[in-house]
Amino acid sequence: MTQPVVLITGAAGGLGSALARRFAAGGWRVAVTDINSDGLHALAKQVALTTSEAIDLRSPANCRELLSRVLASTGRLDALVNAAGVWREGPVESCSEDDFDLVMDVNLKAAFFICAAAIPALRESRGGIVNIASDAGHQGNRNAALYCASKGALTLLSKTLALDLAPDGVRVNCVSPGDIATPMLDFQAERYGNGDPVGYKSELLALYPQGQNARFIRPEEIAELVWFLCQPYAEAITGANLAIDFGLSAGK
Ligand SMILES: NC(=O)c1ccc[n+]([C@@H]2O[C@H](COP(=O)([O-])OP(=O)(O)OC[C@H]3O[C@@H](n4cnc5c(N)ncnc54)[C@H](O)[C@@H]3O)[C@@H](O)[C@H]2O)c1
Repeated sequence: MTQPVVLITGAAGGLGSALARRFAAGGWRVAVTDINSDGLHALAKQVALTTSEAIDLRSPANCRELLSRVLASTGRLDALVNAAGVWREGPVESCSEDDFDLVMDVNLKAAFFICAAAIPALRESRGGIVNIASDAGHQGNRNAALYCASKGALTLLSKTLALDLAPDGVRVNCVSPGDIATPMLDFQAERYGNGDPVGYKSELLALYPQGQNARFIRPEEIAELVWFLCQPYAEAITGANLAIDFGLSAGK
């Protein structure tokens, strides 16, 4: 059987690199991309990569170029996982236009145009898309309106694509994690922790229903769910937004 191909965005990051390791361990060919070329080189030392493209995904032209390069090298695409993302927080009144554009362009626009570029190949393979949203995509997170807006839009983009592509046998799902132990979380704590990154993280953990036993999710735990969604036995799952958040979004 032809080895299936996955394209992972944000692959130099905490979740993206765990995804690359999971799909490689499962015998898939792994195509990766990220704006961080050093991070991609580091990943290539751990995982056999079929293609690796250092690209800024905020440009739709770059998204199209990425897909044409990946397809030229692999000849097919079976799964696309959009894991590139950025975090900014703070009150709406003090949000700069630059931050607005950055968050929307990486979290929403890039995913939108990569999906668009990938759809013809996914129709051929009857493959699927997994978009990494967030609990912040289906419930408000105080002080993070911009990030919430970007992930909420990504969630509904995924559901609509699931409807549009169902007749072609292409599945589209969202995975919505709670807080994952990755460089993004460290960045949040350093930049927004008022000099107390440990305190910032403790405040996040205090929101979880596990109380003293709350912990951050490991990227490998999210990667396992994405892997599951991309298998033929998950054929009935499309248009879903799957929470993996220790119950953070289950209710108050
Ligand atoms: N870490 C968390 O707590 C958490 C929680 C819920 C959802 N998420 C989402 O999970 C996904 C993975 O995040 P992570 O935690 O691994 O963060 P991360 O910061 O470790 O990885 C994100 C990656 O996206 C890349 N990226 C940023 N801008 C880019 C651009 N313009 N073009 C190409 N690549 C770009 C970064 O270089 C980085 O490697 C993101 O979509 C994030 O929003 C993270």
